[in-house]
Amino acid sequence: MFRSTGPRLTVSLFPLLLPLFFMTALARAEVPLDPHIEALISRMTSEEKAGQLTILQDEFRNTPPGVNPEFKRRQISELLADVRAGKVGALFNGQGVTLGREAQRIAIEESRLKIPLLFGADVIHGFRTVFPIPLAEAASFEPELARRTARVAAIEATAAGIHWTFAPMVDIARDQRWGRVAEGAGEDVYLGKLFAAARVRGFQGDDLRAEDSLLATPKHFAAYGAVTGGMDYNTVEISQQTLREVHFPPFQAAFAAGALTAMSAFNDINGVPASGSYWLQTQVLRGEWNFRGFVVGDYTADLELIRHGYAANGSDAARIALAAGVDMSMHSGLYISELPKLVAAGELPMAVLDQAVRRVLYVKKALGLFENPYRSLDANREANQIGLPAHRDLAREAARKSVVLLRNERNLLPLDKAAHIALIGPLGDDRKNLFGPWTLFGLDENSVTLKQGLINAGVTRLSVEQGSEIETALEGGIEAAVAAAKNADVVVLALGEGERMSGEAQSRTSIEIPAPQQALAEAVAATGKPLVVLLSSGRALALKGALRDADAVVANWFLGGEAGNALADILLGTHSPSGRLPVSFPFESGQQPYFYNHRSTGRPVVPGETTEFKTQYREARNAALYSFGHGLTYTTFTYGEVTLSAPSLPWDGGLQVSARITNTGARDGEEVVQLYIRDRVASITRPVR
Ligand code: BGC
Repeated sequence: MFRSTGPRLTVSLFPLLLPLFFMTALARAEVPLDPHIEALISRMTSEEKAGQLTILQDEFRNTPPGVNPEFKRRQISELLADVRAGKVGALFNGQGVTLGREAQRIAIEESRLKIPLLFGADVIHGFRTVFPIPLAEAASFEPELARRTARVAAIEATAAGIHWTFAPMVDIARDQRWGRVAEGAGEDVYLGKLFAAARVRGFQGDDLRAEDSLLATPKHFAAYGAVTGGMDYNTVEISQQTLREVHFPPFQAAFAAGALTAMSAFNDINGVPASGSYWLQTQVLRGEWNFRGFVVGDYTADLELIRHGYAANGSDAARIALAAGVDMSMHSGLYISELPKLVAAGELPMAVLDQAVRRVLYVKKALGLFENPYRSLDANREANQIGLPAHRDLAREAARKSVVLLRNERNLLPLDKAAHIALIGPLGDDRKNLFGPWTLFGLDENSVTLKQGLINAGVTRLSVEQGSEIETALEGGIEAAVAAAKNADVVVLALGEGERMSGEAQSRTSIEIPAPQQALAEAVAATGKPLVVLLSSGRALALKGALRDADAVVANWFLGGEAGNALADILLGTHSPSGRLPVSFPFESGQQPYFYNHRSTGRPVVPGETTEFKTQYREARNAALYSFGHGLTYTTFTYGEVTLSAPSLPWDGGLQVSARITNTGARDGEEVVQLYIRDRVASITRPVR
């Protein structure tokens, strides 16, 4: 009922309300007025303005396939004609300097107003050098590592003619069914904030105008990680409290670190699509947080307002999205087709268009593009700064630090390199699933498989059996694997999700390992040989049977191009593992959403008390098998007495906690010291940790 009257009301009142909206928006933080930009705006037609607010796929430089839903591909000549006519201001997901220069030349020599193009791309975890997926890197608990890998990604991407990355994804992910857990820093807000800021600093560097500075885009604003049932694109029902405590802070941290763009989310929030929400994209973002950049809508998110049932048609959708504060339209072409008509019909004040253009031009200017339109389009840099050995070294270090040792009974790990190792499983000698989701520009042939890594590290007695495909059985696979296991001293079982089982649109109902691989694990475990399980995944998993009970269990996510070498470093003990879980591994899939920092209930399970009539499922404890923060290593640490700088923590102040940590084991190691607090009595109940 509400929906059927809503849009009509909006349409009729809209022209009256908009100037009002606009005036309030102006009273909020905005980009500073710049005479050059103002002069440009005064000369622009509304088509040229809409062009600056449009980003299209870079067919000229050949966008990689399979990244986004199939959409009508444009002819190259058509695209270049649009550049010439000023009908497009930015291109995305292409790369390469020669063609990039040519497109830029057309924009600044052949278009009327000579406004430079902005080249964007999904540079999510590395460019040619592929680093671990963001979730894996978060397991390092070392934001500085993420800053360094983002810096190298920026150096390489800008050397290949890209100015702007659609990263970092800073969505908090508390439901492991959601496939995009892989792209963020996991379930914890504090860790999420630290990684968000570190990645922005890494991408952008100290000076946005520098050749190697890559403009960052925290995404997806907002609450995309809270989709109902963990199903991608689904609706979000959420309280203000949870939005502001959980989902907003990583964005705020990213903006505080200097991010000048944001991407609006696909999902709705309490009935209003995020990409059509004036409250979100203007009142919160600019009004409350003083954000001074521009917002790009996620891929066709403006057009999708129609299917949400929030806009009647394309014209309505474009008007709602722009007025909400979504300054740039990605790929739908709606702004270019609709905004000029809306302005001409008096349904959209020119001032609203101007303000969005002002923001986009401000960011182009901040990148130095007006003075130096060929920045980041240098053939010399392209030839000399991509895929360098130092970048690979960093990929190996990052991969090593991303590995989490979950279990290590009787210190089975590290392995003796002289042992006869049976390397079993679909991911033991596999190159296709090393990178993980959202790798657009990495080259497979540069990556190191686990088998190769072990050989590189000097393992000579190695038998390799695939045993199973990722999601289907392999004929005779189990028999061959069991035979190999029987002949070996120890089994390393490398299995898990394929790289296309997480990422966008890869939500799962069950977060277990696919059945054929589970069967392989059971058969191999039944040989009784010492068993090390290596788990690839883009999310937390629910481990069962042999996978849960193996002597050693390692979470290795998707580690990128140096995966094999890094895993060999850990398995053979050249380095001790130091990663910690950024997401909790539950007992059962059905516990989702499970996260460690939930609130208490009136009937929590308390040790020593009855468990009847308490907060838990019949089949599983209300706990994780491995909680957030868990991770083992090869040495031992003792903690000295904890001292506090003051007896109590003031509500608006700080407090220092210190303790002496000693490595009491026989090996070098790194310890991630973690401190959790709880506010035990509050007017709004607080998390248990
Ligand atoms: C994703 C974004 C991505 C965009 C461009 C969308 O489907 O949600 O994260 O940046 O595509 O590839």
